Amino acid sequence: MKSLLMVDPQKLPHLLKYMGSKRELLEFINHAINQLQIDSDWFCDLFSGTSIVGCSLRDEYNIHINDIQYYTSIFANTYLTNENEIKNTVAFDLIREQVFFYKNEFFSKYLELEFNYSELNYEELKKLEEAQQELINKEFEIGFHLFTKYYSGTYWSYEQCVWIDAIRAVAEKYKTTSEYNLILSSLIFAMSYSSQSTGHFAQYRDITQSNMYDILQYRTRSIWTLFEKKYKELIEFQQSNILGNYHRITSLDYLDCLRLIDENTIVYADPPYSSVHYSRFYHAVETIVKYDYPDIKHKGRYREDRHQSPFGKKTEVKKAFEDLFDRIKDRKSHLILSYSNNGMITENEITDIADKSFGKEYESFVFSKKYLHSKMGRSDEKSMEVDELIIAYKRL
Ligand SMILES: C[S@@+](CC[C@H](N)C(=O)[O-])C[C@H]1O[C@@H](n2cnc3c(N)ncnc32)[C@H](O)[C@@H]1O
Repeated sequence: MKSLLMVDPQKLPHLLKYMGSKRELLEFINHAINQLQIDSDWFCDLFSGTSIVGCSLRDEYNIHINDIQYYTSIFANTYLTNENEIKNTVAFDLIREQVFFYKNEFFSKYLELEFNYSELNYEELKKLEEAQQELINKEFEIGFHLFTKYYSGTYWSYEQCVWIDAIRAVAEKYKTTSEYNLILSSLIFAMSYSSQSTGHFAQYRDITQSNMYDILQYRTRSIWTLFEKKYKELIEFQQSNILGNYHRITSLDYLDCLRLIDENTIVYADPPYSSVHYSRFYHAVETIVKYDYPDIKHKGRYREDRHQSPFGKKTEVKKAFEDLFDRIKDRKSHLILSYSNNGMITENEITDIADKSFGKEYESFVFSKKYLHSKMGRSDEKSMEVDELIIAYKRL
C-alpha cells in the first residue's frame, strides 16, 4: 500500500481568493486518504475549483481535474506544466513590451477618457465612478475592450480595466503555448487582488462616505505590478515542476466527467455546500478566460449563460447526490466527499442516500474537523465555525 505524501501546498502558488477553497484543509484531506489505504492509479478531483486538492496529489496518482467552470482548467494547466514544456519560455521582457504597447495604443486612442482619482471629495468620487460605469454604452473601435466597456467603475477602475484588456490581448498571442495559462493565471491573481468587491464578484460595492477610502485603496492598485510579481513566481515554480504521472483536465458537468473515469478511481467530490452559485460569484473570472463579450445582466453585470448547480438548489440536491453515488458505483470506483454540517442537506441525509446507492459492496468512513469558514462579505460576520466533514465510501 502507498503511504501518501502531498506536494507541499505552499509550493503551489496561490492564484485566486476562492470561496470554499480547500487549501487550508489539505492536511485533513490527506489524513483521510491515508486512512482509507486505497490502492489506485487515478485520482479524480471532480469539482476542482482552484484545483489545489488534485494538483497537490500529482506525485502520487494520475490526476484528473474537472470543474464546470472553465477557469479551473487554466489553474490546473498552470500547476501541471512540466519543466520540459517551458524550455523555450518567451522572455518576460517581450511580454512586458507587448502589454505596454497595447495599453498605450488604447489610452492614446481615447485621450478624452481620463478619470483622475486624486484629491476628490465624496460627491466628486461618486460622479467619477458613475461616468466610468456609463462606458458600457460606448462603442469602442479597437479590439480587446471587453473589460473596459463592461466593468469600468465597477469592480475595477477604467485604467485598471484597460490594463486587464491589454494583458488579455497578449495572452491570446500565446494561445497554443504554456505562456497562455501562465499569463491568464497571473492576470486572474491581479484581478482578484485589485477588485474593490469582497473577495468575489457577486457585487461591487457602492461608494459611501464610510467606505470611500477603503475603495480608493483598491482603485489605486497596479494591475501590472500584481501581474508581474505573480508571473515571475509562477515561472520559478514551473521551472522546478517535475511531473512523473499522467494528467487529464476537463471542464464538464460532474455526471459527464464520471463517464470518463477508469474503474478503481478515487473520486474526490467537493460540490457546492450552499445556494450560492459559483458561476455568479466568479463570472468575471470565467469571462476573462472565455473573452466572448457575453450578454450580461443585473447590477453585478453577470453573464446570462451562468451554470446553476443542482447542489445549490433545495429541490434538486438530493437527486444530485444520488446520481453522484450511483455513477461512482457503476464505475466500480471509490468516493471521498467533502461537505459541512451547515450544507444544503444534513450528514444523515447524505449517508442515507449513499448507503442505499453503495450497498454492501462498500465500507463507509466519516472524518470531521472544526473549521473557521470565511463568509467573504456575505454577512457582517467575517467567519463562522463549522464541522468540516469527509464522508468516504471505499469499494471492498
Ligand atoms: C466547493 S467548490 C470546490 C473547491 C475546490 N475543492 C478548491 O479547493 O478550490 C465547488 C465547485 O463545484 C463546481 N461545480 C458546481 N456545479 C458543478 C457541476 N454540475 N459539475 C461540475 N462542477 C460543478 C463549482 O464551479 C465550484 O468550483
